[in-house]
Amino acid sequence: MSRHSPDVWIGDDAIALAREGVRRVAEAARRAIAARGRFTLVLSGGNTPRRMYRALAADEYGIEWGRVEFFFSDERMVPPEHPDSNYGMARETLLGHIPIRPEQVHRVPTELPVTEAARAYEAVLRAVLDPKEPHLDFVVLGMGPDGHTASIFPGSPLVTRDFTSSEPSQVTRAARSYATEPLSAAVLNAPRPPRERVTLAPYIINQARQVMVMVAGEDKVAAVSAALESDAEASEIPIRAIAPDNGLLSWLLDRKAARALTNAPF
Ligand code: 6PG
Repeated sequence: MSRHSPDVWIGDDAIALAREGVRRVAEAARRAIAARGRFTLVLSGGNTPRRMYRALAADEYGIEWGRVEFFFSDERMVPPEHPDSNYGMARETLLGHIPIRPEQVHRVPTELPVTEAARAYEAVLRAVLDPKEPHLDFVVLGMGPDGHTASIFPGSPLVTRDFTSSEPSQVTRAARSYATEPLSAAVLNAPRPPRERVTLAPYIINQARQVMVMVAGEDKVAAVSAALESDAEASEIPIRAIAPDNGLLSWLLDRKAARALTNAPF
């Protein structure tokens, strides 16, 4: 799956997971701010990340919020006030509770039609990233029971192209470049509602300095095994396309989700 094997951390429950997630985000923020003066943090939707956002808002580590820029791994095409909005969820749990300016939050413009919103988000990312070093500092991801991550679902065109160059006719990972790869894509028919979404593409997630996948709960057992201990194609288990080129990949699991792993560090 990964060119570097992921670091797998297993905690007792979803609360322990959130606590560890906060610790890692805070540490990465400290380093990024010391090195480059800012920290680019990509948030996801879902219940597992949500717990961590609440814990982050408690601000135990004194993160320099004024130097953090927030992005979203994906967004459902609903207004910010809608209960399905990932931005709305992040605002309610985290962004509305910390000292930041509105321009630090880069939300997907869901008031536009979905293809235009994806294009606009692409432009936002390109305006912020350095083309020579297009590395987001930290991407938080969840995973659904079908192995989807962000809004990259099984069968998505974003994961049907080859990532390991086993098929010479397809675009290989090495040939991909920041100039030509889409960073953001419109999803028109997600298998669960809302069907229209915007998602980051695996390419830009894999350029990140650090990617942290957070998964908790019994309903994720099969997907966790398929993601970490099978040869499934990314077209079937999309999270298998997440393998940072040079960054760190870590998985934070609770005991329930990790139950069927055979090589787990229990
Ligand atoms: C979304 C999310 C999605 C989520 C997973 C896991 O907008 O739907 O970004 O990828 O992270 O579905 O969600 P749970 O943690 O709720 O299982």
